[in-house]
Amino acid sequence: MGWRAVQPPHIAAGLLLLLLVNLPVTCHQDHQDAVHITAILGESVVFNCQVDFPEDIPVPYVLQWEKKVGETGQDIPIYIWYESYPTHSGEGYEGRVSRVATDSPYGAASLNLTNIRESDQGWYECKVVFLNRSPNQHKNGTWFHLDVHAPPRFSITPEDIIYVNLGDAIILNCQAEGTPTPEILWYKDANPIEPSGTVGIFNDGTELRISNIRHEDIGDYTCIARNGEGQVSHTARVIIAGGAVITMPPTNQTKLEGEKVQFSCEAKALPGNVTVKWFREGAPVAEVAALETRVTIRRDGALVINPVAADDSGQYLCEVSNGIGDPQSASAYLNVEYPAKVTFTPTVQYLPFRLAGVVQCYIKANPPLQYVTWTKDKRLLEPYQTKDIVIMNNGSLLFTRVNQNHQGRYTCTPYNAQGTQGSSGPMEVLVRKPPVFTVEPEPLYQRKVGESVEMHCEAQESEGTQRPSVTWRRRDGLPLQKNRVRAVGGNITIDTLRRQDFGIYQCVASNEVATIVADTQLVIEGTQPHAPYNVSGTATEFQVTLRWQPGYAGGPDYKQDYTIWYREAGFSEWTKVPVTPPGATSVTINRLQPGTTYEFQVNSKNTIGEGMMSKAITIRTLDVGAKPKVPTTAAGPIDEKIFQNAPEGSGPKPGPPRNLTVTEVHNGFLITWQGPLERAQLVQYYTIKYRTDAQWKTLNRGQIRPEETSYLVKNLVGGRTYYFRVLANSATSYESSDEVRFPVPARVKHKAITAGVVGGILFFIVAIILSVCAVKICNKRKRRKQEKGEANTRGGRSPVPDISIHGLFL
Ligand SMILES: *[C@@H]1O[C@H](CO)[C@@H](O)[C@H](O)[C@H]1NC(C)=O
Ligand SMILES: *[C@@H]1O[C@H](CO)[C@@H](O)[C@H](O)[C@H]1NC(C)=O
Ligand SMILES: *[C@@H]1O[C@H](CO)[C@@H](O)[C@H](O)[C@H]1NC(C)=O
Ligand SMILES: *[C@@H]1O[C@H](CO)[C@@H](O)[C@H](O)[C@H]1NC(C)=O
Ligand SMILES: *[C@@H]1O[C@H](CO)[C@@H](O)[C@H](O)[C@H]1NC(C)=O
Ligand SMILES: *[C@@H]1O[C@H](CO)[C@@H](O)[C@H](O)[C@H]1NC(C)=O
Ligand SMILES: *[C@@H]1O[C@H](CO)[C@@H](O)[C@H](O)[C@H]1NC(C)=O
Ligand SMILES: *[C@@H]1O[C@H](CO)[C@@H](O)[C@H](O)[C@H]1NC(C)=O
Repeated sequence: MGWRAVQPPHIAAGLLLLLLVNLPVTCHQDHQDAVHITAILGESVVFNCQVDFPEDIPVPYVLQWEKKVGETGQDIPIYIWYESYPTHSGEGYEGRVSRVATDSPYGAASLNLTNIRESDQGWYECKVVFLNRSPNQHKNGTWFHLDVHAPPRFSITPEDIIYVNLGDAIILNCQAEGTPTPEILWYKDANPIEPSGTVGIFNDGTELRISNIRHEDIGDYTCIARNGEGQVSHTARVIIAGGAVITMPPTNQTKLEGEKVQFSCEAKALPGNVTVKWFREGAPVAEVAALETRVTIRRDGALVINPVAADDSGQYLCEVSNGIGDPQSASAYLNVEYPAKVTFTPTVQYLPFRLAGVVQCYIKANPPLQYVTWTKDKRLLEPYQTKDIVIMNNGSLLFTRVNQNHQGRYTCTPYNAQGTQGSSGPMEVLVRKPPVFTVEPEPLYQRKVGESVEMHCEAQESEGTQRPSVTWRRRDGLPLQKNRVRAVGGNITIDTLRRQDFGIYQCVASNEVATIVADTQLVIEGTQPHAPYNVSGTATEFQVTLRWQPGYAGGPDYKQDYTIWYREAGFSEWTKVPVTPPGATSVTINRLQPGTTYEFQVNSKNTIGEGMMSKAITIRTLDVGAKPKVPTTAAGPIDEKIFQNAPEGSGPKPGPPRNLTVTEVHNGFLITWQGPLERAQLVQYYTIKYRTDAQWKTLNRGQIRPEETSYLVKNLVGGRTYYFRVLANSATSYESSDEVRFPVPARVKHKAITAGVVGGILFFIVAIILSVCAVKICNKRKRRKQEKGEANTRGGRSPVPDISIHGLFL
């Protein structure tokens, strides 16, 4: 609308002046009688112009249309016509201007302007110049003003969909062209936008700015551009962007080998351009060579493996992302089942003569192996009938002591719930003598820090077998340091010894028949002790009893003394308590607070200095009135069953039994202790607990009366280390003595058996003697009875019942 007044009056006046000065031929004017025409962009318009012949007599004339151009308002001819001469079109008007064809000689000056442009707007003059007339007689032109109108059209619009996160700020930009200049209106979901603290319209309405987007700002935003000629609109959808979320995760599947498996992985997201990646056990499936030809990822994200193979079992993980937020993932397991199969058949296997040996059956099975059948020389082997052959859990055959009869041709056939894929090929099993050590390392090497040690070892094969390889290793599995260890044949030298080199070393000689091992110990003298280990403890309300295993003492004859460091967990300063007597490996810390967690560490020192701290353990003292708890170790609670026989509840309890000792005596091992110092009167009975592994067991059958402080045990196994405790039980509670370690000498096994046999024979002899005696006594008594006529019943008593109790105890 504004455009209608676009030619301000003063410019019009200037133009007029110029016209009067420069173009005296043309006209008047204040253009008062000018014709105003409005045209639409792209359309056409006709300027009507009459030719008024002088005295109404047609005479030749030139028709010239001019347009005022530029700031100076110069008249530029845009169309000139003269009779049959070719017409002239001004620059930019080529092909767009023509005379309106008319039959009337009077109307032939009208101009048809087509394909109107915005630049066509302005002043036009129709001039008719009659020839053969004096210039003075020429006629005033006719003036036209052309307004070019254009409906709005967008030059800039926002994206159709705008993904935002809450709190974001966005600017929607909407610009339109058109004549008159269109106005821009903004709507949200069909309602005009009301500017607010976070929503504003700027830059002549072209920019809608939203800061700190909230939920209620989400929606459709429409900008409308309109002017008198029309309106256009554009809608932008503002939505909250969402990272991809898996809507259908894969699920665990079990398939038979050869079947097809499909794992789904559907996700939704905004924007929805989700990419799905699949991984098997962490590796992109595309990079798993074994899957290459069998795997496809479908368009919907699903993974298809067709057909599945035995080795495809495992975890499959899909990861989805649309680039927003962290990728999401989900995984499932594929379990591929197949009948048990033999994977490898060695044609020859060796068994070491007189040692234990294994004939291997290499098997793969899922579900797991159920059993394996073996044939030897084409006959079914019944290992259950021969006690020196065992089928192990993995199907291989274990010969506990190999002899020549074990040689032969074997096959194995594995089975699982799916059946079997058949037997192995025949395996020739040969019995050969194992390699032997020709030089063995000494049992013990004792060196000082910085010295070197040379340990010798050589082995030789037996006839018809390969030369054994001889290598060294540490029994604890730690690696040997290559730069300090030199090996020449089976001999090794370790230079510049350190205290860490302390340990047990093994010379390993191995060939196809057997692997033999010789142990030796390397002791490094003159170092600080190693850290105590395996620290454990038990708590009462006010006490914690700690126990530990000594680390290496630092030298063969070194003594270690211990110091306990403890504190309330995480809080206070450490308190240090030396352990007495020196060298003891357990101690009770008194005067602790009930229901409090303490940290304990054990430090060791020898004559050279302080060693390293043990690992710290934390122990909580019991709450007052609480039940006694299961003791804790650094590795966690010991087996719950330790004190399963302990009475319930706390109640008053005796002090701990003291001075528990185990001594070997001629007929077994005597466990002795002393009663508690405190509250000894509460003891109702004792219980003896023992263990050889983590599991505590009760030693005695029946209760041990409180007045007894010793117990004889016979059946300890030689070569094992036993731990003992004595519990002093009150009616409702108990207290435990310190733990005592007792390694039973290896020779004991034989002795125990012999002792048993000798004991048996002795018992037998004693029994015979007794019965003989008894017969004699009876006879005597009979005689006496006969003599005195009086019965004597006490004569049947003998020590036998006591002996038999011992016997039962075995
Ligand atoms: C003007 O010219 C255009 C294109 O040649 C034609 O279509 C139109 O009819 C003309 N108008 C008049 C009034 O002659
Ligand atoms: C032009 O026309 C006006 C009125 O229409 C008249 O007054 C004027 O004299 C004319 N000028 C010429 C040069 O004919
Ligand atoms: C899928 O299998 C894995 C491993 O076997 C297991 O940990 C998981 O619980 C199973 N998931 C379902 C839903 O059964
Ligand atoms: C998905 O589209 C968004 C926005 O168009 C882009 O930022 C993102 O990178 C795309 N994501 C993927 C995975 O192509
Ligand atoms: C079977 O188990 C035994 C004992 O663990 C082992 O020595 C042997 O190598 C195993 N055999 C196979 C084929 O795995
Ligand atoms: C290894 O040491 C032994 C004993 O000293 C020696 O007889 C043997 O020759 C040594 N072997 C090698 C390969 O040096
Ligand atoms: C512990 O018992 C042994 C043997 O019975 C005895 O020699 C020793 O003196 C006792 N120790 C204490 C501290 O009572
Ligand atoms: C630590 O103690 C537990 C039980 O007290 C025992 O089973 C384990 O063998 C010990 N560890 C070592 C290294 O001695």
